[in-house]
Amino acid sequence: MDTNQNHDDYFVIKAKENGVQVIGLTRGQDTKFHHTEKLDKGEIMIAQFTAHTSAVKIRGKAVVMTKHGVMDTEV
Ligand code: TRP
Repeated sequence: MDTNQNHDDYFVIKAKENGVQVIGLTRGQDTKFHHTEKLDKGEIMIAQFTAHTSAVKIRGKAVVMTKHGVMDTEV
């Protein structure tokens, strides 16, 4: 098992339109979607990377805040 799970790192996703998807991908050998959360405009999700989640994919217009900075999914 990966020992660097960064459980202390929270990230924030703020939806800028309805139907933004926050997709959690599994940790380990297989990389699969395990959870899809739908956010409507203005909704915020605060989450962490965990033993089960090593990556997150975001679909739709959103602002993403991590320790690496603030990013916007819009071009
Ligand atoms: N049950 C999931 C987990 O513990 C919940 C979760 C945590 C999650 N972080 C996430 C789901 C990020 C989607 C995206 O890993």
